[in-house]
Amino acid sequence: MGLPLALDWLATCLWLTVQCVGSSPPNLILLFADDLGFGDLGSYGHPSSLTPNLDKLAAQGLRFTDFYVTSPVCSPSRASILTGRYQTRSGIYPGVLYPGSRGGLPLNETTIAEVLKPLGYNTAMMGKWHLGVGPNGTYLPTRQGFDSYLGIPYSHDMGPCHNLTCFPPDVKCFGYCDRGVVTVPLMHNEVIIQQPTDFLELETAYSKFATHFIRDSANKKQPFFLYYPSHHTHYPQYAGVGAAGQSLRGPFGDALLELDSTVGHIVHTLKDTGLINNTLIFFTADNGPELMRRSHGGNAGLMKCGKGTTYEGGMREPGIAYWHGRIAPGVTHELASSLDILPTFAALAGAPLPKVALDGFDMRRILFHGGPSRRKAMFYYPTDPSEKYGVFAVRSGKYKAHYYTRGATHSDTTPDQDCHVTSFLKQHDPPLLFDLEADPSETYSLAADGHPEVAAVLQRMQQLRDDFQAGMEFGESQMERGTDPALEPCCRPTCSPKPDCCRC
Ligand SMILES: *[C@@H]1O[C@H](CO)[C@@H](O)[C@H](O)[C@H]1NC(C)=O
Ligand SMILES: *[C@@H]1O[C@H](CO)[C@@H](O)[C@H](O)[C@H]1NC(C)=O
Ligand SMILES: *[C@@H]1O[C@H](CO)[C@@H](O)[C@H](O)[C@H]1NC(C)=O
Ligand SMILES: *[C@@H]1O[C@H](CO)[C@@H](O)[C@H](O)[C@H]1NC(C)=O
Repeated sequence: MGLPLALDWLATCLWLTVQCVGSSPPNLILLFADDLGFGDLGSYGHPSSLTPNLDKLAAQGLRFTDFYVTSPVCSPSRASILTGRYQTRSGIYPGVLYPGSRGGLPLNETTIAEVLKPLGYNTAMMGKWHLGVGPNGTYLPTRQGFDSYLGIPYSHDMGPCHNLTCFPPDVKCFGYCDRGVVTVPLMHNEVIIQQPTDFLELETAYSKFATHFIRDSANKKQPFFLYYPSHHTHYPQYAGVGAAGQSLRGPFGDALLELDSTVGHIVHTLKDTGLINNTLIFFTADNGPELMRRSHGGNAGLMKCGKGTTYEGGMREPGIAYWHGRIAPGVTHELASSLDILPTFAALAGAPLPKVALDGFDMRRILFHGGPSRRKAMFYYPTDPSEKYGVFAVRSGKYKAHYYTRGATHSDTTPDQDCHVTSFLKQHDPPLLFDLEADPSETYSLAADGHPEVAAVLQRMQQLRDDFQAGMEFGESQMERGTDPALEPCCRPTCSPKPDCCRC
Protein backbone atom coordinates (compact mmCIF):
# COMPACT_ATOMS: atom_id res chain seq x y z
CA MET A 1 0.00 0.00 0.00
CA GLY A 2 2.86 2.37 0.83
CA LEU A 3 4.56 1.94 -2.51
CA PRO A 4 1.81 3.04 -4.88
CA LEU A 5 1.10 6.02 -2.63
CA ALA A 6 4.75 7.02 -2.60
CA LEU A 7 4.97 6.61 -6.37
CA ASP A 8 1.86 8.64 -6.80
CA TRP A 9 3.28 11.37 -4.61
CA LEU A 10 6.54 11.34 -6.57
CA ALA A 11 4.69 11.41 -9.88
CA THR A 12 2.63 14.35 -8.69
CA CYS A 13 5.78 16.18 -7.66
CA LEU A 14 7.54 15.54 -10.96
CA TRP A 15 4.40 16.36 -12.87
CA LEU A 16 4.08 19.61 -11.01
CA THR A 17 7.79 20.26 -11.56
CA VAL A 18 8.15 21.71 -8.10
CA GLN A 19 10.42 20.65 -5.34
CA CYS A 20 8.12 18.89 -2.93
CA VAL A 21 10.50 18.89 -0.05
CA GLY A 22 11.37 22.23 1.43
CA SER A 23 9.31 24.33 -0.97
CA SER A 24 6.83 26.70 0.58
CA PRO A 25 3.21 26.57 -0.53
CA PRO A 26 2.40 29.21 -3.14
CA ASN A 27 0.62 32.45 -2.41
CA LEU A 28 -2.72 32.68 -4.17
CA ILE A 29 -4.42 35.85 -5.37
CA LEU A 30 -7.91 35.83 -6.86
CA LEU A 31 -9.08 38.98 -8.64
CA PHE A 32 -12.76 39.15 -9.57
CA ALA A 33 -14.13 42.10 -11.54
CA ASP A 34 -17.82 43.01 -11.48
CA ASP A 35 -20.09 43.09 -14.55
CA LEU A 36 -17.02 43.11 -16.78
CA GLY A 37 -17.51 41.65 -20.25
CA PHE A 38 -15.48 39.39 -22.48
CA GLY A 39 -14.52 42.39 -24.59
CA ASP A 40 -13.60 44.91 -21.90
CA LEU A 41 -9.85 44.45 -21.44
CA GLY A 42 -7.17 45.74 -23.78
CA SER A 43 -5.78 42.19 -23.86
CA TYR A 44 -9.18 40.91 -25.02
CA GLY A 45 -9.36 43.36 -27.88
CA HIS A 46 -10.96 46.50 -26.48
CA PRO A 47 -9.56 49.41 -28.50
CA SER A 48 -9.79 52.16 -25.87
CA SER A 49 -9.68 50.47 -22.44
CA LEU A 50 -6.50 51.26 -20.57
CA THR A 51 -5.60 48.14 -18.59
CA PRO A 52 -1.78 48.07 -18.74
CA ASN A 53 -1.29 45.94 -15.61
CA LEU A 54 -3.89 43.32 -16.48
CA ASP A 55 -2.58 43.29 -20.05
CA LYS A 56 0.91 42.58 -18.71
CA LEU A 57 -0.41 39.65 -16.67
CA ALA A 58 -2.16 38.39 -19.82
CA ALA A 59 0.92 38.80 -22.00
CA GLN A 60 3.25 37.17 -19.47
CA GLY A 61 0.71 34.59 -18.31
CA LEU A 62 -1.96 32.31 -19.70
CA ARG A 63 -5.01 33.92 -21.29
CA PHE A 64 -8.16 31.79 -21.47
CA THR A 65 -10.55 32.17 -24.41
CA ASP A 66 -13.16 29.72 -23.11
CA PHE A 67 -13.57 30.53 -19.43
CA TYR A 68 -17.04 30.45 -17.87
CA VAL A 69 -18.84 31.53 -14.75
CA THR A 70 -21.93 29.74 -13.43
CA SER A 71 -24.48 32.53 -13.45
CA PRO A 72 -25.21 35.70 -15.41
CA VAL A 73 -25.68 37.62 -12.12
CA CYS A 74 -23.61 38.44 -9.06
CA SER A 75 -24.31 36.50 -5.86
CA PRO A 76 -24.67 33.03 -7.45
CA SER A 77 -21.48 33.47 -9.45
CA ARG A 78 -19.67 34.50 -6.25
CA ALA A 79 -20.98 31.49 -4.35
CA SER A 80 -19.63 29.23 -7.09
CA ILE A 81 -16.16 30.71 -7.35
CA LEU A 82 -15.63 30.41 -3.59
CA THR A 83 -17.08 26.91 -3.14
CA GLY A 84 -16.37 25.12 -6.45
CA ARG A 85 -20.08 24.24 -6.55
CA TYR A 86 -22.99 25.37 -8.67
CA GLN A 87 -25.11 27.94 -6.86
CA THR A 88 -28.07 25.56 -6.91
CA ARG A 89 -26.31 23.37 -4.33
CA SER A 90 -25.62 26.20 -1.88
CA GLY A 91 -29.03 27.85 -2.39
CA ILE A 92 -27.67 31.17 -3.69
CA TYR A 93 -30.56 31.67 -6.13
CA PRO A 94 -32.73 33.13 -7.58
CA GLY A 95 -31.28 36.57 -8.30
CA VAL A 96 -29.06 38.28 -5.75
CA LEU A 97 -28.92 39.13 -2.04
CA TYR A 98 -29.93 42.54 -0.64
CA PRO A 99 -28.66 44.60 2.32
CA GLY A 100 -31.51 43.34 4.51
CA SER A 101 -31.49 39.72 3.28
CA ARG A 102 -32.05 37.11 5.98
CA GLY A 103 -30.03 34.54 4.05
CA GLY A 104 -26.45 34.19 2.91
CA LEU A 105 -23.92 31.61 1.84
CA PRO A 106 -24.66 28.79 4.31
CA LEU A 107 -21.91 28.47 6.90
CA ASN A 108 -21.54 24.76 6.23
CA GLU A 109 -20.35 25.55 2.69
CA THR A 110 -16.55 25.36 2.46
CA THR A 111 -14.89 28.38 0.84
CA ILE A 112 -11.41 28.53 -0.71
CA ALA A 113 -10.30 30.43 2.41
CA GLU A 114 -11.53 27.58 4.62
CA VAL A 115 -9.75 25.03 2.43
CA LEU A 116 -6.45 26.89 2.80
CA LYS A 117 -6.72 27.97 6.43
CA PRO A 118 -5.76 24.58 7.99
CA LEU A 119 -2.52 24.65 5.97
CA GLY A 120 -1.46 27.81 7.76
CA TYR A 121 -2.51 30.33 5.14
CA ASN A 122 -3.05 33.97 6.03
CA THR A 123 -6.36 34.88 4.39
CA ALA A 124 -7.84 38.25 3.52
CA MET A 125 -10.51 39.74 1.38
CA MET A 126 -11.25 43.25 0.20
CA GLY A 127 -14.15 44.50 -1.89
CA LYS A 128 -17.60 43.24 -2.68
CA TRP A 129 -18.76 40.15 -0.80
CA HIS A 130 -22.41 39.87 -1.82
CA LEU A 131 -22.93 36.53 -0.06
CA GLY A 132 -24.95 37.90 2.80
CA VAL A 133 -24.66 39.93 6.00
CA GLY A 134 -27.51 38.56 8.12
CA PRO A 135 -28.27 39.08 11.80
CA ASN A 136 -25.16 40.23 13.66
CA GLY A 137 -22.98 39.64 10.63
CA THR A 138 -23.75 35.90 10.50
CA TYR A 139 -22.70 35.61 6.86
CA LEU A 140 -19.77 38.02 6.61
CA PRO A 141 -16.43 36.90 5.09
CA THR A 142 -14.90 36.69 8.58
CA ARG A 143 -17.32 33.82 9.27
CA GLN A 144 -16.24 32.01 6.11
CA GLY A 145 -12.49 31.61 6.55
CA PHE A 146 -11.16 35.14 5.99
CA ASP A 147 -8.90 36.44 8.75
CA SER A 148 -9.57 39.99 7.70
CA TYR A 149 -11.94 41.91 5.49
CA LEU A 150 -12.23 45.45 4.18
CA GLY A 151 -15.12 46.31 1.93
CA ILE A 152 -18.75 46.83 1.12
CA PRO A 153 -20.64 43.58 1.68
CA TYR A 154 -22.90 44.01 -1.39
CA SER A 155 -23.31 46.06 -4.59
CA HIS A 156 -22.61 49.75 -4.27
CA ASP A 157 -25.85 50.74 -6.02
CA MET A 158 -27.81 49.06 -3.19
CA GLY A 159 -28.14 52.34 -1.35
CA PRO A 160 -28.46 56.03 -2.20
CA CYS A 161 -25.52 56.97 -4.45
CA HIS A 162 -23.17 59.43 -2.83
CA ASN A 163 -20.08 60.91 -4.42
CA LEU A 164 -20.25 58.58 -7.40
CA THR A 165 -19.63 59.60 -11.00
CA CYS A 166 -23.38 59.56 -11.48
CA PHE A 167 -25.86 60.87 -8.94
CA PRO A 168 -29.54 60.56 -9.39
CA PRO A 169 -31.25 62.43 -10.97
CA ASP A 170 -28.40 62.64 -13.50
CA VAL A 171 -29.97 60.71 -16.36
CA LYS A 172 -26.58 60.29 -17.99
CA CYS A 173 -26.08 57.45 -15.50
CA PHE A 174 -28.74 55.44 -17.30
CA GLY A 175 -30.28 54.33 -14.04
CA TYR A 176 -30.69 55.00 -10.33
CA CYS A 177 -29.35 53.68 -7.10
CA ASP A 178 -31.66 52.17 -4.48
CA ARG A 179 -33.57 54.56 -2.19
CA GLY A 180 -35.20 53.78 1.13
CA VAL A 181 -32.30 51.66 2.39
CA VAL A 182 -29.23 52.51 4.45
CA THR A 183 -26.36 54.29 2.73
CA VAL A 184 -23.55 52.02 1.61
CA PRO A 185 -21.34 50.93 4.56
CA LEU A 186 -17.60 50.30 4.50
CA MET A 187 -16.73 47.46 6.86
CA HIS A 188 -13.50 46.40 8.46
CA ASN A 189 -13.94 42.81 9.56
CA GLU A 190 -17.37 43.01 11.20
CA VAL A 191 -17.39 46.68 12.12
CA ILE A 192 -18.75 49.55 10.02
CA ILE A 193 -15.96 52.12 9.80
CA GLN A 194 -17.64 54.52 7.38
CA GLN A 195 -21.24 55.12 6.31
CA PRO A 196 -21.73 56.32 3.62
CA THR A 197 -18.59 55.03 1.98
CA ASP A 198 -16.30 57.62 0.47
CA PHE A 199 -15.90 56.24 -3.04
CA LEU A 200 -13.26 58.73 -4.02
CA GLU A 201 -10.87 57.23 -1.47
CA LEU A 202 -12.02 53.63 -1.63
CA GLU A 203 -9.58 52.19 -4.16
CA THR A 204 -6.67 53.79 -2.33
CA ALA A 205 -7.87 52.11 0.86
CA TYR A 206 -7.97 48.76 -0.94
CA SER A 207 -4.48 49.20 -2.36
CA LYS A 208 -3.16 50.01 1.12
CA PHE A 209 -4.97 47.05 2.65
CA ALA A 210 -3.52 44.67 0.02
CA THR A 211 -0.01 46.06 0.36
CA HIS A 212 -0.14 45.79 4.14
CA PHE A 213 -1.52 42.25 4.00
CA ILE A 214 1.15 41.03 1.55
CA ARG A 215 3.98 42.66 3.53
CA ASP A 216 2.63 41.27 6.78
CA SER A 217 2.47 37.75 5.30
CA ALA A 218 6.00 38.14 3.92
CA ASN A 219 7.29 39.23 7.34
CA LYS A 220 5.61 36.30 9.04
CA LYS A 221 6.81 33.96 6.27
CA GLN A 222 3.24 32.80 6.03
CA PRO A 223 1.68 31.73 2.70
CA PHE A 224 -1.38 33.82 1.89
CA PHE A 225 -4.66 33.89 0.02
CA LEU A 226 -5.96 37.29 -1.07
CA TYR A 227 -9.43 37.54 -2.62
CA TYR A 228 -10.23 40.85 -4.29
CA PRO A 229 -13.71 40.99 -5.79
CA SER A 230 -13.72 44.58 -6.98
CA HIS A 231 -16.76 46.87 -7.13
CA HIS A 232 -15.39 47.94 -10.48
CA THR A 233 -16.86 47.90 -13.07
CA HIS A 234 -20.41 47.60 -11.68
CA TYR A 235 -22.78 50.52 -12.26
CA PRO A 236 -22.62 53.36 -11.20
CA GLN A 237 -19.04 54.02 -12.18
CA TYR A 238 -16.71 55.92 -9.87
CA ALA A 239 -13.02 56.68 -9.68
CA GLY A 240 -10.73 58.62 -7.38
CA VAL A 241 -8.49 61.48 -8.44
CA GLY A 242 -5.80 59.17 -9.84
CA ALA A 243 -8.13 57.71 -12.46
CA ALA A 244 -11.09 60.09 -12.92
CA GLY A 245 -10.92 61.56 -16.40
CA GLN A 246 -7.72 59.65 -17.16
CA SER A 247 -8.97 56.96 -19.54
CA LEU A 248 -10.07 57.18 -23.15
CA ARG A 249 -13.36 55.50 -22.38
CA GLY A 250 -15.31 57.82 -20.07
CA PRO A 251 -16.57 56.82 -16.59
CA PHE A 252 -16.45 53.07 -17.33
CA GLY A 253 -12.89 53.34 -18.59
CA ASP A 254 -11.86 55.39 -15.56
CA ALA A 255 -13.30 52.80 -13.16
CA LEU A 256 -11.51 50.01 -15.02
CA LEU A 257 -8.28 51.98 -15.03
CA GLU A 258 -8.60 52.39 -11.25
CA LEU A 259 -9.08 48.63 -10.79
CA ASP A 260 -6.07 48.06 -13.02
CA SER A 261 -3.96 50.40 -10.89
CA THR A 262 -4.63 48.23 -7.81
CA VAL A 263 -3.47 45.20 -9.80
CA GLY A 264 -0.30 47.17 -10.51
CA HIS A 265 0.18 47.93 -6.79
CA ILE A 266 -0.28 44.26 -5.89
CA VAL A 267 2.30 43.10 -8.47
CA HIS A 268 4.71 45.80 -7.35
CA THR A 269 4.37 44.70 -3.72
CA LEU A 270 4.96 41.06 -4.69
CA LYS A 271 8.18 42.04 -6.46
CA ASP A 272 9.26 44.24 -3.60
CA THR A 273 8.77 41.51 -1.00
CA GLY A 274 10.44 38.86 -3.18
CA LEU A 275 7.24 36.81 -3.36
CA ILE A 276 6.57 37.24 -7.08
CA ASN A 277 8.07 33.88 -8.10
CA ASN A 278 5.94 31.97 -5.63
CA THR A 279 2.57 33.62 -6.28
CA LEU A 280 -0.25 32.67 -8.63
CA ILE A 281 -2.56 35.51 -9.67
CA PHE A 282 -5.88 34.57 -11.25
CA PHE A 283 -8.19 37.17 -12.79
CA THR A 284 -11.76 36.80 -13.98
CA ALA A 285 -15.17 38.49 -13.57
CA ASP A 286 -18.51 37.51 -12.07
CA ASN A 287 -20.80 37.86 -15.08
CA GLY A 288 -21.26 39.65 -18.38
CA PRO A 289 -21.64 43.38 -18.94
CA GLU A 290 -24.71 45.33 -17.91
CA LEU A 291 -25.55 46.55 -21.39
CA MET A 292 -28.60 48.55 -20.24
CA ARG A 293 -26.16 51.15 -18.87
CA ARG A 294 -25.11 51.85 -22.45
CA SER A 295 -21.65 53.41 -22.59
CA HIS A 296 -21.55 53.33 -18.75
CA GLY A 297 -21.77 49.53 -18.84
CA GLY A 298 -19.29 46.96 -20.12
CA ASN A 299 -18.82 45.22 -23.45
CA ALA A 300 -19.14 41.55 -24.34
CA GLY A 301 -16.97 41.92 -27.46
CA LEU A 302 -18.20 39.54 -30.15
CA MET A 303 -20.23 37.47 -27.67
CA LYS A 304 -24.03 37.64 -27.84
CA CYS A 305 -25.95 39.71 -25.24
CA GLY A 306 -24.69 40.23 -21.68
CA LYS A 307 -25.67 40.21 -17.99
CA GLY A 308 -28.80 38.28 -17.08
CA THR A 309 -28.74 35.98 -20.14
CA THR A 310 -27.37 32.51 -20.82
CA TYR A 311 -25.93 33.60 -24.16
CA GLU A 312 -22.14 33.69 -24.25
CA GLY A 313 -22.03 37.40 -23.39
CA GLY A 314 -23.66 36.67 -20.03
CA MET A 315 -21.30 33.95 -18.88
CA ARG A 316 -18.07 33.78 -20.89
CA GLU A 317 -15.45 35.93 -19.21
CA PRO A 318 -11.81 36.88 -19.47
CA GLY A 319 -9.59 34.47 -17.54
CA ILE A 320 -5.92 35.19 -16.86
CA ALA A 321 -3.49 33.02 -14.91
CA TYR A 322 -0.11 34.54 -14.10
CA TRP A 323 2.75 32.96 -12.21
CA HIS A 324 6.18 34.28 -12.97
CA GLY A 325 8.54 31.52 -14.02
CA ARG A 326 5.92 28.79 -13.65
CA ILE A 327 3.14 29.43 -16.13
CA ALA A 328 4.35 29.84 -19.70
CA PRO A 329 2.99 32.86 -21.55
CA GLY A 330 0.32 31.93 -24.06
CA VAL A 331 -3.33 31.54 -24.93
CA THR A 332 -5.45 28.50 -24.13
CA HIS A 333 -8.69 27.43 -25.77
CA GLU A 334 -9.32 24.74 -23.17
CA LEU A 335 -12.69 24.76 -21.43
CA ALA A 336 -12.45 26.04 -17.85
CA SER A 337 -14.62 27.68 -15.22
CA SER A 338 -14.64 29.69 -12.02
CA LEU A 339 -15.75 26.37 -10.45
CA ASP A 340 -12.26 25.01 -11.13
CA ILE A 341 -10.41 27.55 -9.00
CA LEU A 342 -11.07 25.89 -5.62
CA PRO A 343 -9.78 22.44 -6.68
CA THR A 344 -6.78 24.04 -8.40
CA PHE A 345 -5.83 26.19 -5.42
CA ALA A 346 -6.33 23.23 -3.08
CA ALA A 347 -4.02 21.06 -5.21
CA LEU A 348 -1.36 23.76 -5.39
CA ALA A 349 -1.42 24.24 -1.63
CA GLY A 350 -1.57 20.49 -0.97
CA ALA A 351 -4.91 20.85 0.81
CA PRO A 352 -7.52 18.11 0.87
CA LEU A 353 -10.76 18.81 -0.99
CA PRO A 354 -13.92 19.41 1.03
CA LYS A 355 -16.00 16.24 1.30
CA VAL A 356 -18.97 17.58 -0.66
CA ALA A 357 -20.28 17.26 -4.21
CA LEU A 358 -17.81 19.46 -6.10
CA ASP A 359 -18.44 20.73 -9.63
CA GLY A 360 -14.89 21.96 -10.27
CA PHE A 361 -11.86 20.29 -11.81
CA ASP A 362 -8.17 20.75 -11.10
CA MET A 363 -6.78 23.06 -13.82
CA ARG A 364 -3.07 22.34 -13.26
CA ARG A 365 -2.79 20.40 -16.52
CA ILE A 366 -3.96 23.50 -18.42
CA LEU A 367 -1.83 25.93 -16.42
CA PHE A 368 1.45 24.03 -16.59
CA HIS A 369 1.17 21.58 -19.49
CA GLY A 370 -1.07 23.13 -22.14
CA GLY A 371 -4.04 20.87 -21.35
CA PRO A 372 -6.15 18.96 -22.01
CA SER A 373 -8.80 20.20 -19.62
CA ARG A 374 -10.43 17.73 -17.29
CA ARG A 375 -13.66 19.66 -17.73
CA LYS A 376 -15.83 18.10 -20.42
CA ALA A 377 -18.89 20.31 -20.20
CA MET A 378 -20.30 23.56 -18.87
CA PHE A 379 -23.90 24.02 -17.78
CA TYR A 380 -25.67 27.37 -18.00
CA TYR A 381 -28.22 28.15 -15.30
CA PRO A 382 -30.47 31.21 -15.68
CA THR A 383 -30.77 33.85 -12.95
CA ASP A 384 -33.61 31.79 -11.42
CA PRO A 385 -32.59 28.13 -11.62
CA SER A 386 -35.38 25.62 -11.06
CA GLU A 387 -35.76 21.87 -11.22
CA LYS A 388 -38.70 22.41 -13.55
CA TYR A 389 -36.66 23.98 -16.36
CA GLY A 390 -33.19 22.76 -15.44
CA VAL A 391 -30.15 24.16 -17.21
CA PHE A 392 -30.92 26.49 -20.09
CA ALA A 393 -27.86 25.51 -22.15
CA VAL A 394 -24.97 23.05 -22.30
CA ARG A 395 -21.52 23.45 -23.78
CA SER A 396 -19.40 20.44 -24.70
CA GLY A 397 -16.40 20.59 -27.01
CA LYS A 398 -17.07 23.26 -29.59
CA TYR A 399 -20.84 22.89 -29.40
CA LYS A 400 -23.45 24.71 -27.36
CA ALA A 401 -27.08 23.64 -27.21
CA HIS A 402 -29.78 26.03 -25.96
CA TYR A 403 -32.84 24.32 -24.48
CA TYR A 404 -34.33 27.62 -23.33
CA THR A 405 -33.47 31.23 -24.07
CA ARG A 406 -34.66 34.48 -22.53
CA GLY A 407 -33.65 38.13 -22.68
CA ALA A 408 -33.01 40.32 -19.62
CA THR A 409 -33.48 43.92 -18.51
CA HIS A 410 -29.74 44.01 -17.80
CA SER A 411 -29.10 43.43 -21.51
CA ASP A 412 -31.70 45.89 -22.86
CA THR A 413 -30.84 48.70 -25.29
CA THR A 414 -28.65 46.58 -27.59
CA PRO A 415 -29.58 46.27 -31.28
CA ASP A 416 -30.09 42.49 -30.85
CA GLN A 417 -33.73 41.94 -29.80
CA ASP A 418 -32.92 38.48 -28.39
CA CYS A 419 -31.11 40.18 -25.51
CA HIS A 420 -34.05 42.31 -24.37
CA VAL A 421 -36.39 41.59 -21.48
CA THR A 422 -39.22 41.52 -24.03
CA SER A 423 -37.76 38.29 -25.45
CA PHE A 424 -39.68 36.09 -23.04
CA LEU A 425 -38.81 32.54 -22.04
CA LYS A 426 -38.72 30.33 -25.11
CA GLN A 427 -38.25 26.58 -25.24
CA HIS A 428 -36.28 25.15 -28.16
CA ASP A 429 -37.16 21.64 -29.25
CA PRO A 430 -35.01 20.62 -30.98
CA PRO A 431 -32.48 22.79 -29.15
CA LEU A 432 -30.63 25.58 -30.94
CA LEU A 433 -27.15 24.26 -31.65
CA PHE A 434 -24.11 26.45 -32.27
CA ASP A 435 -20.54 25.64 -33.19
CA LEU A 436 -18.81 28.17 -30.93
CA GLU A 437 -15.49 27.77 -32.68
CA ALA A 438 -16.85 28.63 -36.13
CA ASP A 439 -19.57 30.94 -34.77
CA PRO A 440 -18.70 32.37 -31.34
CA SER A 441 -21.46 34.97 -31.66
CA GLU A 442 -24.20 32.29 -31.71
CA THR A 443 -25.70 33.56 -34.95
CA TYR A 444 -26.16 30.47 -37.12
CA SER A 445 -27.97 27.53 -35.53
CA LEU A 446 -26.80 24.25 -37.01
CA ALA A 447 -30.08 22.66 -36.02
CA ALA A 448 -31.82 24.80 -38.63
CA ASP A 449 -29.33 23.83 -41.35
CA GLY A 450 -29.99 20.09 -41.34
CA HIS A 451 -26.28 19.24 -40.80
CA PRO A 452 -25.77 15.47 -40.79
CA GLU A 453 -23.89 15.42 -37.45
CA VAL A 454 -26.53 17.45 -35.63
CA ALA A 455 -28.69 14.56 -34.42
CA ALA A 456 -25.73 12.72 -32.89
CA VAL A 457 -24.39 15.88 -31.21
CA LEU A 458 -27.78 16.75 -29.76
CA GLN A 459 -28.17 13.24 -28.41
CA ARG A 460 -24.78 13.50 -26.68
CA MET A 461 -25.68 16.92 -25.26
CA GLN A 462 -29.01 15.61 -23.98
CA GLN A 463 -27.17 12.78 -22.23
CA LEU A 464 -24.77 15.23 -20.57
CA ARG A 465 -27.70 17.36 -19.46
CA ASP A 466 -29.64 14.39 -18.08
CA ASP A 467 -26.61 13.01 -16.21
CA PHE A 468 -25.79 16.41 -14.74
CA GLN A 469 -29.33 17.07 -13.61
CA ALA A 470 -29.66 13.62 -12.10
CA GLY A 471 -26.70 14.49 -9.85
CA MET A 472 -27.91 17.97 -8.91
CA GLU A 473 -29.43 18.48 -5.48
CA PHE A 474 -31.02 21.90 -5.01
CA GLY A 475 -30.19 23.51 -1.68
CA GLU A 476 -32.83 25.55 0.12
CA SER A 477 -33.08 28.98 -1.54
CA GLN A 478 -31.44 31.63 0.63
CA MET A 479 -33.18 34.39 -1.31
CA GLU A 480 -36.62 33.03 -0.52
CA ARG A 481 -35.92 33.67 3.16
CA GLY A 482 -36.71 37.28 2.27
CA THR A 483 -35.50 40.59 3.66
CA ASP A 484 -35.91 42.48 6.92
CA PRO A 485 -35.07 46.22 7.01
CA ALA A 486 -33.81 45.77 10.59
CA LEU A 487 -30.93 43.67 9.22
CA GLU A 488 -29.55 46.44 6.99
CA PRO A 489 -26.06 47.30 8.27
CA CYS A 490 -26.23 50.48 10.36
CA CYS A 491 -23.29 52.11 12.13
CA ARG A 492 -25.66 53.40 14.86
CA PRO A 493 -27.75 50.27 15.42
CA THR A 494 -30.22 51.83 17.84
CA CYS A 495 -30.71 55.20 16.07
CA SER A 496 -33.96 56.42 14.55
CA PRO A 497 -35.52 57.15 12.17
CA LYS A 498 -33.88 54.55 9.98
CA PRO A 499 -32.51 54.31 7.38
CA ASP A 500 -31.52 58.00 7.28
CA CYS A 501 -29.90 58.07 10.74
CA CYS A 502 -27.34 55.42 9.73
CA ARG A 503 -24.43 57.80 9.13
CA CYS A 504 -21.20 58.04 11.01
C1 LIG B 1 -25.78 22.43 5.06
O1 LIG B 1 -26.90 22.30 5.92
C2 LIG B 1 -28.14 22.18 5.23
C3 LIG B 1 -29.25 22.23 6.26
O2 LIG B 1 -29.02 21.30 7.25
C4 LIG B 1 -28.14 20.91 4.42
O3 LIG B 1 -29.36 20.77 3.72
C5 LIG B 1 -26.99 20.97 3.42
O4 LIG B 1 -26.91 19.77 2.70
C6 LIG B 1 -25.67 21.22 4.14
N1 LIG B 1 -24.64 21.48 3.13
C7 LIG B 1 -23.45 20.94 3.19
C8 LIG B 1 -22.49 21.34 2.12
O5 LIG B 1 -23.11 20.16 4.04
C1 LIG C 1 -27.12 40.35 18.02
O1 LIG C 1 -26.31 40.15 19.15
C2 LIG C 1 -26.75 40.84 20.29
C3 LIG C 1 -25.73 40.69 21.40
O2 LIG C 1 -25.00 39.51 21.25
C4 LIG C 1 -28.14 40.32 20.70
O3 LIG C 1 -28.60 41.03 21.82
C5 LIG C 1 -29.08 40.53 19.53
O4 LIG C 1 -30.33 39.96 19.83
C6 LIG C 1 -28.55 39.90 18.28
N1 LIG C 1 -29.38 40.28 17.17
C7 LIG C 1 -29.91 39.41 16.33
C8 LIG C 1 -30.77 39.97 15.24
O5 LIG C 1 -29.69 38.21 16.39
C1 LIG D 1 -19.17 63.84 -0.84
O1 LIG D 1 -17.85 64.32 -0.94
C2 LIG D 1 -17.65 65.59 -0.38
C3 LIG D 1 -16.24 66.05 -0.69
O2 LIG D 1 -15.33 65.01 -0.49
C4 LIG D 1 -17.94 65.53 1.12
O3 LIG D 1 -17.78 66.78 1.70
C5 LIG D 1 -19.35 65.04 1.30
O4 LIG D 1 -19.62 64.87 2.69
C6 LIG D 1 -19.60 63.75 0.59
N1 LIG D 1 -21.00 63.40 0.69
C7 LIG D 1 -21.40 62.22 1.15
C8 LIG D 1 -22.87 62.05 1.29
O5 LIG D 1 -20.64 61.32 1.42
C1 LIG E 1 12.50 35.28 -9.63
O1 LIG E 1 12.97 34.50 -10.71
C2 LIG E 1 13.81 35.19 -11.60
C3 LIG E 1 14.18 34.25 -12.74
O2 LIG E 1 13.04 33.93 -13.44
C4 LIG E 1 15.06 35.66 -10.89
O3 LIG E 1 15.86 36.42 -11.76
C5 LIG E 1 14.64 36.50 -9.70
O4 LIG E 1 15.78 36.83 -8.94
C6 LIG E 1 13.65 35.77 -8.82
N1 LIG E 1 13.17 36.71 -7.81
C7 LIG E 1 13.13 36.40 -6.53
C8 LIG E 1 12.67 37.48 -5.63
O5 LIG E 1 13.43 35.30 -6.11
